Amino acid sequence: MTQPLVITIDGPAGAGKSTVAQSLAARLGLTYIDSGATYRAAALKVLEAGIDPLDELAVARVIASTEVRITTGDGAPHVLVDGQDVTARLRTPEVTLAAAQVSRLPEVRSKLIEMQRAFAQGRGVVMEGRDIGTVVFPQAQLKIFLKADMEERARRRLKQDSHDSRVASIEKTAYEIGRRDQLDSERKISPLKPAADAVEIDSTNLLADQVVEQILALAEKRSLGDPRRVS
Ligand code: DC
Repeated sequence: MTQPLVITIDGPAGAGKSTVAQSLAARLGLTYIDSGATYRAAALKVLEAGIDPLDELAVARVIASTEVRITTGDGAPHVLVDGQDVTARLRTPEVTLAAAQVSRLPEVRSKLIEMQRAFAQGRGVVMEGRDIGTVVFPQAQLKIFLKADMEERARRRLKQDSHDSRVASIEKTAYEIGRRDQLDSERKISPLKPAADAVEIDSTNLLADQVVEQILALAEKRSLGDPRRVS
């Protein structure tokens, strides 16, 4: 039996991972998974339990007894925490910061990674995150590391989170992204870094569609199915 196709897209915040991964998954008929949403869901649970995200013992304890689950019932991915759909509440600045903090803990990571792998079992996926090519799916058939310069990333993130009036300027957003980059890259376990066999794409001057075309061309070159069949 052939292994289902697994494509990993890692990179820093605002590099265009979500847009590219969703569009790529649609083109290839694969399931799109945003692993960051699972860390955000864990962070939301911690905040709602009134726990300081930096209190490692308390965070580990509450996450041990929390069920985080991904579903794709209507095609779009949803994240459930203890059975409740929290997808619409994951993109506030508080959750964003707390996600970067709780994702440093091994207890949080091991639980979510196990769930991410289980979800992908037996189906083809495009999964985006920070450690998907390095840790979650080291055997993935195609690994992409997407990057873009800071100003462009801040501009995109501002657009994505524009419903939140507290995120007001490119400068402030760039500062917040820089702070998160630092937390993500300097953490001891699963730091953000390209897998040795990842293909790096700089999306600063590219439209999302152009990045998707580049990845489809790579998939085709590696004979990973017939990627252009689904469109
Ligand atoms: O991609 P995002 O902004 O939704 O991610 C939220 C946080 O979760 C971010 O600070 C990094 C962390 N994360 C992680 O540690 N590993 C992943 N695979 C995905 C996200």
